[in-house]
Amino acid sequence: MDMTSMLVFCVVVLLCYYALRTPNNIPMGPLTVPLLGNIPQLIGRNPLLLFRKWRKQYGDVFSVYMGSQLLVVLNGYKTIKEALVTRGNVFSERPHNFLLDKINEGEGILFASGTSWKRQKKFTLNCLQELGFGCNSLEVCIVDEAKILIEQIEQNSGAPLNLKDILIRSVSNVICGIVFGRRFSHEDKQFLEVLSNFSEDAKYLGNASILMNCFPFLQYLPGDLLGNKTILEHTKVFQKLYDDLYESHQSTLDDNNPRDFMDLYLTEMKKNSTLPNKEENTYSKNQLKALVGDLFGAGTETTSTTLLWAVLYLLHYPDVQEKCFDEIQTVLGMERLPSLDDRSHLPYCEATILETLRIAAVVPLALPYAITREVYFRGYRIPKESSILINLDSILHDCDIFKDPGVFRPERFLDSSGQVRKPNEFIPFSCGRRVCIGKKVARMELFIFLTTMIQKFKFFPVDPCHLPDLEGNLGITYSPKYFQVKIVRRQDVKS
Ligand code: HEM
Repeated sequence: MDMTSMLVFCVVVLLCYYALRTPNNIPMGPLTVPLLGNIPQLIGRNPLLLFRKWRKQYGDVFSVYMGSQLLVVLNGYKTIKEALVTRGNVFSERPHNFLLDKINEGEGILFASGTSWKRQKKFTLNCLQELGFGCNSLEVCIVDEAKILIEQIEQNSGAPLNLKDILIRSVSNVICGIVFGRRFSHEDKQFLEVLSNFSEDAKYLGNASILMNCFPFLQYLPGDLLGNKTILEHTKVFQKLYDDLYESHQSTLDDNNPRDFMDLYLTEMKKNSTLPNKEENTYSKNQLKALVGDLFGAGTETTSTTLLWAVLYLLHYPDVQEKCFDEIQTVLGMERLPSLDDRSHLPYCEATILETLRIAAVVPLALPYAITREVYFRGYRIPKESSILINLDSILHDCDIFKDPGVFRPERFLDSSGQVRKPNEFIPFSCGRRVCIGKKVARMELFIFLTTMIQKFKFFPVDPCHLPDLEGNLGITYSPKYFQVKIVRRQDVKS
């Protein structure tokens, strides 16, 4: 065969492949490579930037192939709301995930589906309400933790500091308060190991689990390129901590005086164990372990990463930092620590937190959804077993909703009288049946931790000529690249 015939042959094969690959009415998307799909385009690139480009090219509903697995990406507020709210009965399941199925066996909330997910989510939400979402006890816990955070930072005042680790410990201790009714010292070895494992897992989980879902043979490769073996190893460390706390709660349980989430769960578990129909009982020790892991995993990385982004943006926008500080100083002075009652009196600080949640889009693709039967949506056919990605970044960076979306401008969340104004489209915690259960606790933590830090300290870049990068890394969360910050006590700042 000469070169021309060879070329014609290749073109015909490719055309046939593409024609077969987009069977009737499946959403359009970028060209794919046989067997690999769009993986080559995604490797080493920021998928969020690619998705912005593809949305312009193919519209609000487009498809991406990971190997032969179809992912339908939904973009824009109207499309996403229509799917998750109007058609929430169809768009509410999670896909099977090779790694997580091994860890949680489909239990918990984050990656669970069906009746068990519904019951556990409802129960957990009720517990969180009972344990003080929006009332004093949780607030006291956050304020106490903020005081310890301040002490920790003070020990390093003036020196370049990796704030991320300290923030993770503080935020995670709030979850520990809710779940186990206790906090851990910032020096506790077991606690530190569990936290560092969770952080590492969040990095791996995004890419590794997607690739492994598409190409299961990857799990048998020698070594641990995708981190799956490390993740499974990490679960043993968490299991040990969990078992210890489970035993101590069991042995001291008083059904009439629940101290924390674990007590509430154990009491419910006892009640359910007497149900005549065993099928109806979705409460078990393993289920509780999955739930605790979910609250830790979902509650720690997200909130601490948002705080880290806030500090990073304050380095880039020192005028915003000064406006927040001035507002705090005027309303509270330098001594009285911020409390939740101050929220309405500190609208600029509140707006700064909302702007951070918007611009950083910490969970930019929500968590993957799956559909269990063929669905017609917006004129497209989405085949059974397809995965759905909810591109929250496409809303939070939509220039029709937020003018100059790449600019950090808290004022966009203030009305003409200086009060906080939130457009309906502002949904960093997603919406519909799968909406984040921790949004209230997260907003409480973000407010107390950030305003307390700004009241006590001023943040400086380590090298004023080279500010840390504003482009982050995408795992399950979108987090800043490693950076250090110089934090100086306000009373030591030379004006
Ligand atoms: C700034 C902090 C946070 C952000 C930006 C955030 C955002 C999100 C998003 C976007 C989702 C995915 C919803 C979907 O799939 O459509 C989610 C789910 C979830 N979040 Fe959060 N979250 C935060 C903090 C928390 C906290 C503090 C907790 C626990 C106390 C928590 C617990 C959960 C759980 C359990 C789910 C799974 C809900 C389900 O699948 O039904 N999150 N979160």
